[in-house]
Amino acid sequence: MQVILRQIGDSIIRRVDSSDLISIMEINMKTLPEHYSDYFYESLLAELPEAFLVAQKGSTYIGYIMCKSEFGFSNFKKLGFVKKGHLVSVAVLEEFRNNGVGSALVEESIKGIQTKQCDEFYLEVRCSNNEAVKLYERLGFIIKQRLRAYYRDGEDAYMMAIEF
Ligand SMILES: CC(C)(COP(=O)(O)OP(=O)(O)OC[C@H]1O[C@@H](n2cnc3c(N)ncnc32)[C@H](O)[C@@H]1OP(=O)(O)O)[C@@H](O)C(=O)NCCC(=O)NCCS
Repeated sequence: MQVILRQIGDSIIRRVDSSDLISIMEINMKTLPEHYSDYFYESLLAELPEAFLVAQKGSTYIGYIMCKSEFGFSNFKKLGFVKKGHLVSVAVLEEFRNNGVGSALVEESIKGIQTKQCDEFYLEVRCSNNEAVKLYERLGFIIKQRLRAYYRDGEDAYMMAIEF
C-alpha cells in the first residue's frame, strides 16, 4: 500500500517502490547532469527507503529525492565520528518548480534520515546553483566547505550540512 507522507496543493509525496525507478531515472535525465546506474538506484532504495521519495501530481511523476547513510567524521564536532545521512540527488521537473515541492521533498527526507538515528545530514551542490543553495539554507543547512573541481566539468561544490 502506498502511504502519502505529505500533500502540497494537488501533488503528493510518498515513498518510492521499485516500479517507480524508471520514471525517477527519466526525471534525473531531464534535470541534472549527474546520472547513475540502475543498480545504484536499486541499492539506495534497498538501503534507505525512508528517504527515497517521489512527488506525483495525479499520475505524473514530478520530482524525487534519494539519500544514503554512512559513518564518518562529523562536519560539526572536532574529532567526532558520527552516522550521517547523505542527500545524493533531488530534482523537480522545471514546469512544476516554485510550488514548494522541492522543499517538501527535502523536509520529508530529513524526517526519514532522522528515523535512522543519523546525527547529521549533508550534501554537495554546485556553487552556481543559487536556487538549490537558497532552498537548503532556508531549511537550516550551512555551507561547511568549498570542494574544488568536485564535478567532472571542473565546477566547485559547496558541501552543506545540518546537525540534528
Ligand atoms: C532545487 C529544486 C529541487 C527546487 O525545487 P522546487 O520545487 O522549485 O523548490 P521549492 O518550490 O520548494 O522552492 C523554490 C522557491 O519557490 C518558493 N516557493 C515555495 N513554495 C512556493 C509557493 N507555494 N508559491 C510560490 N513560491 C513558492 C520558495 O520560497 C523557493 O524560493 P527561495 O528558495 O528563494 O525561498 C529545483 O530547482 C530543481 O530540480 N533543480 C534542478 C535539479 C537540482 O539542481 N537539484 C539540486 C542538486 S544539489
